[in-house]
Order: sequence, then structure tokens, then C-alpha cells
Amino acid sequence: MSEDAPNRAAKLGIPEFPPDPADDFEWVPATRQVAGDLSEPPLIDWRTASTSRRAFLRGVVCSGVAVSASAHLFTLRPGEARAAVRGVERLVTLHINGRARRVDVPPSETLAQTIRYRLGLTGTKIGCNRAECGACTVLADDVPIYSCSTLTHQVRGKAITTVEGVAEPDGTLHPVQQAFIDELGPQCGFCTPGQVMSAVGLLKKNPNPTVDQARRALSGNLCRCGAYHHYLAGVMHAAGRT
Ligand code: FES
Ligand code: FES
Repeated sequence: MSEDAPNRAAKLGIPEFPPDPADDFEWVPATRQVAGDLSEPPLIDWRTASTSRRAFLRGVVCSGVAVSASAHLFTLRPGEARAAVRGVERLVTLHINGRARRVDVPPSETLAQTIRYRLGLTGTKIGCNRAECGACTVLADDVPIYSCSTLTHQVRGKAITTVEGVAEPDGTLHPVQQAFIDELGPQCGFCTPGQVMSAVGLLKKNPNPTVDQARRALSGNLCRCGAYHHYLAGVMHAAGRT
């Protein structure tokens, strides 16, 4: 039968574990080294039986975690910090396209993310994700907003409409959608949902806009295909039919 490894190591004089230099180190406070033991009672030694090196290191690590967690809380906006502390506020009821949808949403999540990735309404596009292109436009209480730059928790209680919610239940397109098709607005189509939502928002507020008013209403929607005149014609076309 072969000898097991620890016994063989012991016979050869090899310690089972490498020695820890700290185990043989007698720590003496610097003041005592210089001046001798002048204190009565003796100086407090952090290497007492109740404070091991391992416990000390564990304390350092834990305090680091606590500091970084509190720093995270202090960098949040006031509302986010409150929500982070009270995790129950993650649950939101969104009124979207005429339906109430209950979703679990982190305080920092944008409406565009919730719409696309939690509710599966991918008609809303994310282009720049920084309030520049308008591809993510949806309506909140009939007002066009950039959903990429709106926190989902900010629209509690508002009626949200996405491009999936503008057509009739039987599939009949909204007059704006039909007019955009008739006027050959969509080229690649990426900006189209945002253009539709801005136009629908305009016509809800002002059913008979002038060309300038329509141009201003669509000015927050960029079209990399350059189909601006087609979309503008579509709005005017739809205005005559709504
Ligand atoms: S994706 Fe929201 S404005 Fe560009
Ligand atoms: S149709 Fe292509 S970006 Fe507008």
C-alpha cells in the first residue's frame, strides 16, 4: 500500500503547509520598542487573541463594501435613492395602448427599454438613446416624448401610446400611417414610428396645422434617408382627412 502524501512529506521534513511568517512575528508597538514598557495598564495590542489577522482583513473588506454601497446610494437622484431603499416601488402599472400592464422596473430604466424589452413592443426604435434623433417618440397623455430619455417611473399614471396603439383594432391604419405610405415617407423605415407618433401628437392637439407648424412638430425627428418632405406632405395629407 502506498504511503499517503502528508506522511511521506513529514518523513522528508517537509511541513504540511508553508509556514506563515506572520505566525512567528512578535509584534511590539513602536513606542514600547523605543521607550520600554512605561504604560500601566499595558498598551493596547491589536494582535490580541480576539483580533486575528484574518478577522482584521475581513473587517477591511466589509467596510469597503459598505462604503461603496453607500456611495452608490448617494450618487442616485433623490427619487431613485428612495426607490432603491424601498425595493417595492419597482412595481409599476403602465397604461399603455389602452391596457394596464404591471411590470417590475428598476428605478433607472428608461421607458424605451421597458417598452421594447419588457413589453415586447418593438415598434418603438432606439437610435441615439440620448434625446437627439426622435426614433423613440411615444405619446404620454397625447404629448410626444422621447422615451429613451424618460424614466419609466416618471410616467406612472399617464396614458402611453406607442406606434402599435394608433391603428384601429381591426387593423385599419391611422390616417397618418396611411398618408405616410401614400406620400412615400418610409425609406429604410427606421425613423417612421417616431415620425408617426410626432404627427399623431400634432394632429390631436391641432387638427389643421400650417406647413410651418407641421414642420416644427416633426423637427425633433431625424431621418437619415432624408425623406423630410415626404413626411411633411404626409402630415398635411392626413390633416385633410382627420
Ligand atoms: S433614441 Fe430617443 S431620441 Fe434618439
Ligand atoms: S426613412 Fe430611413 S431614417 Fe427615415
